[in-house]
Amino acid sequence: MRANRNRASVIGHTSMPQCFSSSGLSISDLRQRPEFFDIVADRIWRAWWKESGHPLGYISDRLRENIDATPIPFALVAHDGATFLGTVSVIASDLAERPQFTPWVAAVWVEPPARRRGVGAALVERATRVGFALGVGRLYLCTRPSRSDYYERMGWTVIEREIGPHQMSVLVRDEAGRINSPP
Ligand SMILES: CC(C)(COP(=O)(O)OP(=O)(O)OC[C@H]1O[C@@H](n2cnc3c(N)ncnc32)[C@H](O)[C@@H]1OP(=O)(O)O)[C@@H](O)C(=O)NCCC(=O)NCCS
Repeated sequence: MRANRNRASVIGHTSMPQCFSSSGLSISDLRQRPEFFDIVADRIWRAWWKESGHPLGYISDRLRENIDATPIPFALVAHDGATFLGTVSVIASDLAERPQFTPWVAAVWVEPPARRRGVGAALVERATRVGFALGVGRLYLCTRPSRSDYYERMGWTVIEREIGPHQMSVLVRDEAGRINSPP
């Protein structure tokens, strides 16, 4: 991974504009909008960690790593002004069975009333673009097989299936837009 450029310079310039479009949807780095920290932690916890008995504080601590001044991990928030719409993270590891793969687009979440309007796709695309702008040549993503199509339509390519107890699919996005070397 070549994620060694100054991250603030990436976010501050064209690869990370503050305003996504004129429709009211903005995508911001969580560090620029810390007021969304608690809701992001809550949503990630409820969606993926609460059921397994992890306390909310465990996720808050992990999410705090996204606030550190390192290029990766980072978290983005989709919002309409002060209204939280969704979130995505780019993190070093997301699948215990594949520790050699890094980094990952993970924790894609859109608030139920905001779904099916392209917010999720916009978040994933922005996270991908920021990763590329940081010097990452390949990003990974894991999902249930039933969601694989969704990401494939966005340009992701499945490289492995039925990984681990949850039978996850592993997908990649290369900066060039296609796989040009074995994973
Ligand atoms: C998965 C998730 C992030 C998608 O968010 P979203 O904002 O609804 O995503 P999009 O709007 O980009 O796309 C969702 C669907 O709406 C469709 N869609 C997008 N814009 C649309 C529009 N304007 N009109 C109608 N349909 C639209 C997309 O084609 C897609 O269709 P599909 O479900 O058949 O693939 C969201 O459902 C969620 O948070 N789920 C719970 C957490 C989760 O499962 N996260 C993913 C882990 S891998």
